[in-house]
Amino acid sequence: MRKTWSGSRVDLHIDLDASKGRRSALEAALRDAIRQGRLATGTLLPSTRGLATELGLSRGTVTAAYDQLTEEGYLTTRPGSGTRVADVPPNTPDSPSAAPMQARPRHDLRPGLPDVSAFPSRAWLAATRRVVADARSVALGAGDPQGRIELRAALADYLGRTRGVVTSPDRIVITSGYYQGLSLLSGVLVRHGAGTVAVEDPSHDVFRSVVQRARLATTPIPVDAHGARVDALTDAVDAVLLTPSHQYPTGVPLHPGRRQAVSAWTRTTGGLIIEDDYDGEYRYDRQPVGALQGIAPDRTVYCGTASKTLGPALRLAWMALPPHLVKPVVDARQQADLYTESLSQLVLADLITTHAYDRHIRATRLRYRRRRELLLARLPGVTGLTAHGVPAGLHTLLTLPADWPPEDEVLSLCARQGLALRGLSELHLDPRGRPGGLLVGFAAPPEHAYRPALDALSGTLRQLVTGPR
Ligand SMILES: Cc1ncc(COP(=O)(O)O)c(C=O)c1O
Repeated sequence: MRKTWSGSRVDLHIDLDASKGRRSALEAALRDAIRQGRLATGTLLPSTRGLATELGLSRGTVTAAYDQLTEEGYLTTRPGSGTRVADVPPNTPDSPSAAPMQARPRHDLRPGLPDVSAFPSRAWLAATRRVVADARSVALGAGDPQGRIELRAALADYLGRTRGVVTSPDRIVITSGYYQGLSLLSGVLVRHGAGTVAVEDPSHDVFRSVVQRARLATTPIPVDAHGARVDALTDAVDAVLLTPSHQYPTGVPLHPGRRQAVSAWTRTTGGLIIEDDYDGEYRYDRQPVGALQGIAPDRTVYCGTASKTLGPALRLAWMALPPHLVKPVVDARQQADLYTESLSQLVLADLITTHAYDRHIRATRLRYRRRRELLLARLPGVTGLTAHGVPAGLHTLLTLPADWPPEDEVLSLCARQGLALRGLSELHLDPRGRPGGLLVGFAAPPEHAYRPALDALSGTLRQLVTGPR
């Protein structure tokens, strides 16, 4: 017997098992709702009279069920303040349907995550209020597969001004993350006859898989101290996936000579550049170098994201495309899942046009610069580690000396100390014979948790050098 009670306080769907007596069916339904977290700690339950009326039960049945659950510790009753859900941990083992919660590591040094405690909540809320007041029908009506024009216009201006991207609103497509953008683009390239995409080695494994899942072959191009060895590109390659401003994961920028070389490669072969500018806003020692797209706008797909500046769960990213790719990508987007939700696009557009976004980037840039310096200041105490890359981004790569234990051992020691970071090996297409390394993110923890995380990291690494092994 499915019932919904929507008393004055809570609205809950419950399933009264008809094979049980009424009282035990109600008890079981309430127990399940509390264990599964559908009734949260502190929730005020309806009065016995109210619930009895709503569910068509006698008041005595409801009172007896409440008493039973109070005795079992699921409910608390205080005279004058009604019956509430007690502090019971949800997802107990006898609720198999409950998905395990992903615990946040004690020391979160995962690369690539921003400090979401720095999220510009006040500006975001003010912009949301404006959007809901002034543009409700736009925010909640049907969306646009290309992305809201307000955001595309704001981004065309912002990307030109801050990243040197040559584009216009009609060439921009908004996607639910770079992940989706790359996936859509890969599908379009396959339909246009492409077969092979060159990827940096090392590079982000997740995005390599996105390309491969679209049935494109990936071929590695090595990375050295000047970035990707674009001289390895041939005319057998249809597109190249690059992270020119801050190579992922080594952190080196693409050398100016190589920028010219890859631009010449696109002109002579017709190959396409896919530029992943994932953290291009964050350069600490100088002005960020402009996007590669600026020197080959008709042969480059520029990809940016809010995942590093605001938070990955927003799932907001953008591509500035050469004209011939706009319609195929928009069509692919429409077929995939119609469009990205509009409200957050309009809010981001508001933040960009009011320059609140610029202010947020400047504030977080200062914060992350300081954190990177603190991290590097700790390392001389740990002999042999080499930090790579320019002062930029949200992570640093540390390669492990040859006489250290292997990377997986270092990572498991770190994990035992509650430290979450990433190993370099899984980012190589073939890790055999490569030096191990640690990708240390310095942005994810909130301010108060950063120094303790550094203490834990340097203590753990020092232990590796001085033993016991
Ligand atoms: C190399 C790289 N590119 C791009 C992204 C952004 O991906 P998305 O916009 O799907 O969150 C990330 C995020 O982790 C990344 O590490």
